[in-house]
Amino acid sequence: MSDCLAILNTRQTVTLAGPARPRIGPEMRELAILEDGAMIIRDGRIESVGRRAEIEIPRDAEVVDAEGRIVLPGFVDAHTHPVFAGARADEYEQRTEGATYAEIAARGGGIRSTVRRTRQAGEAELTEAASRYATWFLGGGTTTIEAKSGYGLSLDAELKILRVIRELAAQRRLRYVPTFLGAHEIPDEYRGRIDDYVDLVIHEMLPRVVKENLAEYCDVFCEPNVFPPDRARLVLQAAYDLGLGLRLHADQFTPDAGAYLAAELRAATADHLEATTIDGLKALQAARVQPVLLPASVYNLGSTHYPAARQMISLGLPVALATDFNPGSSPTASMPMALSLACTHMKMTPAEAITAATINAAYSLGRGDGIGSLEPGKLADFVIHDCADYRELPYFFGREPAHAVYVGGRCVYCR
Ligand code: NIG
Ligand code: FE
Repeated sequence: MSDCLAILNTRQTVTLAGPARPRIGPEMRELAILEDGAMIIRDGRIESVGRRAEIEIPRDAEVVDAEGRIVLPGFVDAHTHPVFAGARADEYEQRTEGATYAEIAARGGGIRSTVRRTRQAGEAELTEAASRYATWFLGGGTTTIEAKSGYGLSLDAELKILRVIRELAAQRRLRYVPTFLGAHEIPDEYRGRIDDYVDLVIHEMLPRVVKENLAEYCDVFCEPNVFPPDRARLVLQAAYDLGLGLRLHADQFTPDAGAYLAAELRAATADHLEATTIDGLKALQAARVQPVLLPASVYNLGSTHYPAARQMISLGLPVALATDFNPGSSPTASMPMALSLACTHMKMTPAEAITAATINAAYSLGRGDGIGSLEPGKLADFVIHDCADYRELPYFFGREPAHAVYVGGRCVYCR
């Protein structure tokens, strides 16, 4: 097989070419679209991209005829929890009957119920389940995911999950960016002993995770009744001292503590932000923390309290969008679904949502120089979507539009 591809006959090539940094304000509406574009891929990278008439097609190129469809960079899903055993459809049913997410968690369900099952599962079982989810991500046009641990909550089980993520990355279908989330919840055996658990995370888990090079980032679920800011700070500070980047589940239910902590620590991202006030947002902006918004979890929990995306964009925050794929609050791997929710409920324009789901998300993971746009020299992670216009991605909701998905120039998914 030739290692040179020519992607031709596209109605729109949505390049997102632009400044080499996250996009803010009106820049988020600039997608740098080529009509009748052509893209040449060589050795897994983009060699050239431009108008068909201006691009020379190498003689050795294998032609991929997009048949009038559109081409985009692969979506970068900057917040997921993809390694877990079992599902929680029972809790979903309970919520339809009136129970809340917090009530279910307080009686031992929620994250802790997934932890019990995940601890019992072997690596092979977890890898098999997560490989199935990888196919779902690909089917929505996602080519890179940030993948958190957090359903082990013991040294061995957290390492097991992170090794599964490493194994999944080695399959070379999706790309994975691993995040250690040992402080996701207090496990059953540490109930009422949060400080002992924080010690375990800081003194036993984090050093091993770093020694085995199993994570790039550390995240904490910062909420007053889970890890309040003073405990979250200890974990994140220790992670920072060991060289990890920082992300934070911030203000999902309770205002501001999380946003201020993310700003204080200059975290890469503050995620959720459903409850953050304008002052909290200003603190994020001043500290150059990127918001990662997760509208699918708001939707699935039956809330209407979406994060204030318009306010964030007005403040010049480089918003990213993600699925929050997990078995509790957000059982969807679909970035097109996240786009639809962002447009319909958060009033982001389709262009802003696509910027948030590609280049801005890539920068939030420290990968902006390699992925997130279709520009010469970048990795050839791109998707041919079965649409005539990029706005159809959020508009035709509830379908998975990817026709063919390429990672590093290799076709890894084809409808
Ligand atoms: O991002 N809020 C904490 N973590 C997840 C939910 C995980 C679960 O319910 O299993 C979230 O929404
Ligand atoms: Fe999450």
